[in-house]
Amino acid sequence: MSVPKPVEDNATGGPLVVGFKPFEVPGQHLVHGNIFPLALKLVDEDPSVPLGDVIEKIKQLAKDGTIRHLLNKHGVLYFRGLPLKTREELSVFVEAFGFKNEHQEIGLSGIRSQVSKHIKTASELPGTVSMFFHNEYARTNHFPEIVFFYSERVPEQGGQTPLASSLELYDSVKAEFPELVDKLLELGVIGRQYYPSKDDPDAKAIGWNWQDSYGFDIKEGDSLEVQHEKVEKLLREEVKAEAEWQPNGSLHVVQRVPAIRKIKSSGLYSFFNTLSGVYGVAKRLGALEYPYKEKNGPGYKLPSSFGDGSPIPEKYLERIIEIQDSIGFLVPWKEGDIAVVNNYTVQHSRTKFVGERSVLVSLWDDIDDFDRTA
Ligand SMILES: [Fe+2]
Repeated sequence: MSVPKPVEDNATGGPLVVGFKPFEVPGQHLVHGNIFPLALKLVDEDPSVPLGDVIEKIKQLAKDGTIRHLLNKHGVLYFRGLPLKTREELSVFVEAFGFKNEHQEIGLSGIRSQVSKHIKTASELPGTVSMFFHNEYARTNHFPEIVFFYSERVPEQGGQTPLASSLELYDSVKAEFPELVDKLLELGVIGRQYYPSKDDPDAKAIGWNWQDSYGFDIKEGDSLEVQHEKVEKLLREEVKAEAEWQPNGSLHVVQRVPAIRKIKSSGLYSFFNTLSGVYGVAKRLGALEYPYKEKNGPGYKLPSSFGDGSPIPEKYLERIIEIQDSIGFLVPWKEGDIAVVNNYTVQHSRTKFVGERSVLVSLWDDIDDFDRTA
């Protein structure tokens, strides 16, 4: 397959990326005239190059604005063949990009473990479960801008990380369902998430609970009332969400968010949400009907609605899943590969796998590239 050539420039007008050269990967394509994703390897392809040299190159590219420019333009920088061997070296590598802050995750509804400085496991869900496309934490108002994915161990089969451009997704959804896009732009969406209490016997099977996900300020001995107040304060101040306490002690987090956002640096629209995933998981678990309880599990999968509370017709959500699959790029992981993802313009998911797989992540905040006035 012949891959379209990216426009060869960078922020300083020099060659594409000093020290690196692009390579071709099946499935690459142009999005708004830019190759997606941009795959890079070291110019000399020397596996014995000292890591320090690579770190210096990255620092230089970060400093002269090239990294930022490429992330805005291509959405993903996919590196192969770097001399990264350990989790500690990965910590040093991600720091070299000089992004502003490590992102503090609030409201984790997955299972992640810290494995070294800035580095966590991506997901500890078993390989029998695939994931739907989403922008990281797009269900809330507190999301990272940059997500690093590092392939530590490649399974025998599957386990790729599909990536899809949210800009391309917006274009496709707009072309097919302009009325949906108008409604989403006008109303935004309301998402709801179920968090059991930590002492609920089902909390362990569900994998998360409201005390661990939102109770960072809870002290031993706090009354239930005080615990609720602390969680409500965090939700209000950090993620602009509301708490709905349930009779069984669980929490529904109610989050009003835009579903489509305008990118400041490009003026383009991004389909930035988790709508298809919320629907897809509920469908898979038999939880589409009220009270939205999983058929064979203890959790609840609460639906997202338009911002006026009206339901989002399933025909749209079904079709969005199909579009995402059709425009997705499968990252063909080799051990040591790294994908640096602009979360504002790129969605990710995960395919099923057989064997042992390890993908690590690192989440960062940098510039705020959403136009909050649009
Ligand atoms: Fe994710």
